[in-house]
Amino acid sequence: MLEAALKEVAAAGDRKTLQAVRVRYLGKKGLLTAELKSLSSLPPGERRQRGQQLNQLKEQFEAAIEAKSEGFKQTELQAQLSAGSLDVTLPGLRFPPGNTHVLSQITNELVDIFAHMGYQAVEGPEVEDEFHNFDALNIPKHHPARDMWDTFWLSSGEVLRTHTSPMQIRYMEQHAPPFKIVVPGKVYRYEQTDTTHEAMFHQLEGLVVGENITMADLKGAVVELSRALYGPRAQVRFQPSFFPFTEPSAEFAVFWEYADSGKGKWLELGGSGMVHPAVFQAVDKAREEAGLPRAYEGKTGFAFGLGIERLALLRYGIPDIRYFYQNRLGFLRQFRG
Ligand code: FA5
Repeated sequence: MLEAALKEVAAAGDRKTLQAVRVRYLGKKGLLTAELKSLSSLPPGERRQRGQQLNQLKEQFEAAIEAKSEGFKQTELQAQLSAGSLDVTLPGLRFPPGNTHVLSQITNELVDIFAHMGYQAVEGPEVEDEFHNFDALNIPKHHPARDMWDTFWLSSGEVLRTHTSPMQIRYMEQHAPPFKIVVPGKVYRYEQTDTTHEAMFHQLEGLVVGENITMADLKGAVVELSRALYGPRAQVRFQPSFFPFTEPSAEFAVFWEYADSGKGKWLELGGSGMVHPAVFQAVDKAREEAGLPRAYEGKTGFAFGLGIERLALLRYGIPDIRYFYQNRLGFLRQFRG
């Protein structure tokens, strides 16, 4: 029986036939199954020997089936591999690269423009203390000028900086003049948002301190910036203004000319002015307390601060400042940098 069974296993050409052979011998009504069932009718002496024989036979038969089945598996695997073979010379899938956010692009551009004029870029903390955000900038407690900046107060008594100007103080506390710096960064104001106002936005601060720095130097820097941004024919306008930390103070605007039309409008870029003597005094006092020499007596300087979003709005004709922060890819992809 074993010989016959093994021959049938060897001859089976596919899984289905092999399964049929298995059933023929080991199924419920299989030949071998019948033999095994008949064991119980034998006398005990014969039963043992016969049982051993049949079990050996069964094991050999099952092993043959198993081996044959493994053979089928290997053949199928080989077939699958050769059908789905990998062509390593094909070009890979392309993943679209991200791009720099439009505001980061403009910030980088601004920092670059100023780098060419000899300014160093520095950054400061977004969580500020009252001294740097207000007091040292000549905005004492209870002074009405504090209302110019609607402030997010933290439970620690600190604030989210309302402008980049506190970095003027931080830098002067650590460095003696002469120097030229710009400070890009996020600022926060507790205000209702609309198409031109956000509660979080970006500013670029500038500060130049040295000997005999004048309002003419301030104008020169702003004109240079405007020409770098808007071309050699850019017109700049200064208007008197007020900031507690500058005297005199001026707002500056650039004439934004629409392409080919000769028409345009004035775009308010930011505030500026000559550094107020009270600011230099506050810095020297802080330096003294920190064990550093006074460095700002008799020095002069100018400062400015501009809103980066406003600049982007007008440059690209974007109708709403809130688009910058909605993370809509359709909007952002227009500014591939
Ligand atoms: C200031 O914050 C001063 N620190 C600027 C300055 C620096 C003056 C140095 C003098 C010397 P102001 O609050 O005007 O000033 O803000 C400056 C610019 O930030 C504005 O011209 C405007 O472009 C932008 N800005 C102000 N508020 C918002 C807002 N809510 N959303 C978007 N941009 C704003």
